[in-house]
Amino acid sequence: MSMNYQDRIPNNVDLGSNRTLQRALEHWQPEFLNWWQELGPKDFQVADVYLRTATSVDAKGWATYGFVRMPEYRWGIFLADRNLERRIGFGDSYGQEVWQQIPGEYRATLRRLIVTQGDTEPASVEQQRMLGHTAPSLYDLRNLFQVNVEEGRHLWAMVYLLHAYFGRDGREEAEELLERHSGDANKPRILGTFNEPISDWLSFFMFTYFTDRDGKFQLKSLAESSFDPLARTCSFMLTEEAHHMFVGDTGINRVVRRALEVMKELNTDDPVAIRHAGAIDLPTVQRYLNFWFSSSLDLFGSESSSNAASYFANGLKGRPDEGRYEDHLAADQMYVLEVPDGNGGTKTEQIPMRNAMNDVTRSSYVRDCEIGVTRWNRLIEKAGHSFRLSLPSTRFRRNIGTWAGVPTDTTGKPITQEEFDARIGSWLPSESDRAYIMSLMHGVHEPAKMAAWIAPPDRGINNNPVDYEYVKMH
Ligand SMILES: [Fe+2]
Ligand SMILES: [Fe+2]
Repeated sequence: MSMNYQDRIPNNVDLGSNRTLQRALEHWQPEFLNWWQELGPKDFQVADVYLRTATSVDAKGWATYGFVRMPEYRWGIFLADRNLERRIGFGDSYGQEVWQQIPGEYRATLRRLIVTQGDTEPASVEQQRMLGHTAPSLYDLRNLFQVNVEEGRHLWAMVYLLHAYFGRDGREEAEELLERHSGDANKPRILGTFNEPISDWLSFFMFTYFTDRDGKFQLKSLAESSFDPLARTCSFMLTEEAHHMFVGDTGINRVVRRALEVMKELNTDDPVAIRHAGAIDLPTVQRYLNFWFSSSLDLFGSESSSNAASYFANGLKGRPDEGRYEDHLAADQMYVLEVPDGNGGTKTEQIPMRNAMNDVTRSSYVRDCEIGVTRWNRLIEKAGHSFRLSLPSTRFRRNIGTWAGVPTDTTGKPITQEEFDARIGSWLPSESDRAYIMSLMHGVHEPAKMAAWIAPPDRGINNNPVDYEYVKMH
């Protein structure tokens, strides 16, 4: 169905044909806008921003670009087209028709899954709300705002499902999505990583690379769901999500490139000298990477999970790219886990495959994370340096799952608590690292200018030059 931009709420779900639902969402809309004004990007609400807006769900040419003031962005409800042939792709009901309505017995579970996903979307906008002031260029400022408005749209995507399929409970959940706030002591966001402040741009790039990528894998799992409207919503969200990870990937790439330029100019890899020249040394990049990667791993949940097993059995949440697996029942396969043996060593344990679905998804995520690391390392190698960035072990600094609270080094080797305490400062950003990164954070808001700690991007947005005036202040 084509997108209707005539309605107050743009949509491709024929919202106008369901007056009750339309009215309920039109009632939620001003509350969303209030939230955006209060906790969305601070101080740039009257700037004209070169943004893309979804105008079709067709994979080729789905977006239109133009200058928009953020509060006037047309947040809407867009689902990928319905595939009438679609069948349940995994679990005990494999091969049966997908659901257009929610079976009563799965109502509470699906609501929880949708609320948990929905909660992350506005959370990240809140986490990033101060970053506009310290953007390294107008190009970056525009990308930040693009990510922000689209996370706002992802909230709409989940709120639509809550309103359309969960009645009064759903409407209440939609209200609460605007009441919890990132880092709020009384009403925090549901997941830990989404309560971490993002106060500098290195963290922002790490977040969009590692944490938005968690989002990608959660959405991929939900895009397999037997509940067809959820699957279709998540499929379309993935189209937008790709840009968020691009921002992270190219952002880290540009930080590395700038460090390499300075290393070449000064003919040294001494972090002190590199910092003296206003760039970010590679060991610091590694420490930020360690922090955000390990924090994002927890978002996948426990390695062994009976919830994950029942989501899979019941067809609620599958594996990313389920079509690539041969056995969609995974009923009698086993999965091997390396777990701590309680004596400072490790042992192997076999668990039913269905219980291991969180770890299956996490492993695909880790492989996807590797791709960027390999690309960044290629730059370093080409520049003739032996330093390499790397992902720490999935056991390192975990707070959830088998390895929660178990002290290991970054390679995953169990160590004593004393050794961990002594070395953690060299593995994660220290106070002085953070202070140094913050000292670089000064907004560069003139076209054709770029902060000294980051290289310019290879190309601009939508075939425009890099020095295009992507944000027009007033
Ligand atoms: Fe999102
Ligand atoms: Fe995102």
